Amino acid sequence: MTAQTDSDGDKDAAAAAAIEEVRDGMLIGLGTGSTAAHAIRRLGERVAGGLAIRAVATSHASATLAESLGIVVLDFADVPRIDLTIDGADEIDTRLYAVKGAGGAMLREKVVAEASDRMVVIADGSKRVAAIGTKAPVPVEILPFARAFVLRALGEAAVLRMAGDRPYLTDNGNLVADCRFDLADVVAVARRLEAIPGVLGHGLFLDQVDVAYIAEAGVVSRLERGDGAS
Ligand code: 5RP
Repeated sequence: MTAQTDSDGDKDAAAAAAIEEVRDGMLIGLGTGSTAAHAIRRLGERVAGGLAIRAVATSHASATLAESLGIVVLDFADVPRIDLTIDGADEIDTRLYAVKGAGGAMLREKVVAEASDRMVVIADGSKRVAAIGTKAPVPVEILPFARAFVLRALGEAAVLRMAGDRPYLTDNGNLVADCRFDLADVVAVARRLEAIPGVLGHGLFLDQVDVAYIAEAGVVSRLERGDGAS
């Protein structure tokens, strides 16, 4: 059995707060990563207790976990809109700007977030930053056909993500470059990335997050867009 760390406890506390938003009949987007896994496990407990929900998952790993807990997981290809998505983040700031994608699922996570009426980020306190760009690199998903061209366009800030001695591949079969950009003008960086043919997605979430539950030493704070967040 693995020992639970303080940060595990905070991830679970944030997940528990977010799960309170889930209601019978909802279609839920399931994020990816260790914090999202806490939310999926808690949802599984509520489903076992009679909650009627359906879900879509942002990764094979999250789909497998959810199904193992008895959660009905639909193919997102058949789903035009979602009620509520719960997902983790690598960094989040008071503007509710987030960096996502350390787990490589940022493209599916972005699409699912955009399809959602409401997107909730859950995190332990280590993810809270004054302004994104402090700790986590920005992951960029790259069409393998365009690898060399896109890496040249991204410049020296970009490092191709590896899995051992091979390039890391996302669930979509694409490459990832982790990029240490200066995010002083983060909107301009996002637009520049979106203008590069062969870039399929990136981990800057500037408009998608509606609310964040962030737990530190067991205390959960809630930041809603509009409450001082842009
Ligand atoms: C995966 C993600 C994750 O939500 C993010 O990396 C946070 O993961 P964790 O909760 O394990 O720290 O964006 O693509």
